[in-house]
Amino acid sequence: MSINANRGMHGVWLSRWTFIMAATGSAVGLGNLWKFPYVVGNNGGGAFVLIYFACMLLVGVPVMMAEVVLGREGRNSPINSMKYVVKGSDSGRVWQLIGWMGVIAGLLILSFYAVIAGWGLHYILELSSGSVVGINGESAASLFGELTSSPAKLIVWQTIFLGMCLLVVSGGVKKGLGAAVEILMPLLFIMLVAMLIYAILEGNFIAACKFLFEFDIASLSWRAILEAMGLAFFTLSIGMGAIMAYGAYMPADASIGKTVLIVSFFDSLVAIIAGLIIFSIVFSTSGIEPSAGPGLMFISLPVAFGSMPAGQSIGVIFFVLVVIAAWSSAISLLEPATAWLVEATGFTRFMASLSLVGFVWIIGLGSVFSFNVGEDFKLAGFTIFDGLDFLTSNIFLPIGGLAISLFVGFVMNRNMLLRQMIDLDCYSLTLKTPSYCSIFSLRVLWDWLLRFVAPIAITAIFIMGIYDSIVS
Ligand code: PHE
Repeated sequence: MSINANRGMHGVWLSRWTFIMAATGSAVGLGNLWKFPYVVGNNGGGAFVLIYFACMLLVGVPVMMAEVVLGREGRNSPINSMKYVVKGSDSGRVWQLIGWMGVIAGLLILSFYAVIAGWGLHYILELSSGSVVGINGESAASLFGELTSSPAKLIVWQTIFLGMCLLVVSGGVKKGLGAAVEILMPLLFIMLVAMLIYAILEGNFIAACKFLFEFDIASLSWRAILEAMGLAFFTLSIGMGAIMAYGAYMPADASIGKTVLIVSFFDSLVAIIAGLIIFSIVFSTSGIEPSAGPGLMFISLPVAFGSMPAGQSIGVIFFVLVVIAAWSSAISLLEPATAWLVEATGFTRFMASLSLVGFVWIIGLGSVFSFNVGEDFKLAGFTIFDGLDFLTSNIFLPIGGLAISLFVGFVMNRNMLLRQMIDLDCYSLTLKTPSYCSIFSLRVLWDWLLRFVAPIAITAIFIMGIYDSIVS
């Protein structure tokens, strides 16, 4: 089938709000709840948070807008959307790699993401059973160790989680993805607010604020700045086609600028709220270090829940929240490849997502074994799990983001671009008459961020960060 005949074959979201919920669902996930707090903890707090926000605003938002533009113009899976737009721009076929790289990065991320989400599922059961009540740090660590040292347990949970993703993605854009996010996102929001109130009432909220907002710039290394940028890309789900795929299903009349701002606002808000919740709770129990690494959520937090009022039930709610957030993100990791497989082979959606889930499951075994039988198997100091995480967040996503900003900034056919972004011309930065509009419009600001600020920042941070990682 030609790309033109395929265009739009997956359907469109019910409304602009469904797109916002789906994209927020994709953005808000383990990156915000699990990774953000521990990476901030490892990097000493406030200064890191500041760099993270700068990356979100100056690089993340413009790149995300560019990704939606590509998706909505292409109206296909990222691979075929890129093909369509590259053809229409008479540009080199090498740009099509953006789509391929994205689909591959998505599957690689999903492979380790499903393992961590599986930990979340396990902890729902663990906390419901009451086994963390009154627990101390040592026992919590051994409880976590019991889980991670058992390939069988990890595989069972990983399989269940991937099954949940299959269930949603095989349902298609409207009945699967759209319907799921319309239920999951409001639920997520309510639970998050409830957790925040609990953390303020019962936790050490002041200490959490201090930790997240007080900063000492001197504590930052280039490696930390690279991590902050990688995290910004990761939590916004950009640089790998998830947002491009979702953009392909966006109604034609919705404003890309406005919706992207809403999504990135929600995403940053959730990262901060998650940080406040987790550190308030962790700091409420003395003797727990904020820099516990990946175990922060699965060791430090259960200890704190174990000694807090109503901690057991609140803990269960917390891990349900984690799983819902992970679920609504994981479906967006699977969707780009699924859409492509349907387009390329004519498979049904079910067959396409089933084959991909099987493939991801196998790669995921590498991450499963990184915590037990294969923990000594290291390449350049990384276990398979750490390596996949570093490679995707700090290398694939920034390179994807760089390529997207350069392509949309300099190469893409201007007519294609302008018809997606026309509304931004009407939001003038000055309050002058519309004739000034095109000179001072937000679109011009966006153009600048996309052409110069984002590429220069990504390249500089990337080179310095990699250099720093090699030297240290
Ligand atoms: N943004 C998701 C999170 O923060 C992860 C993700 C990355 C999802 C890339 C899709 C694409 O957990």
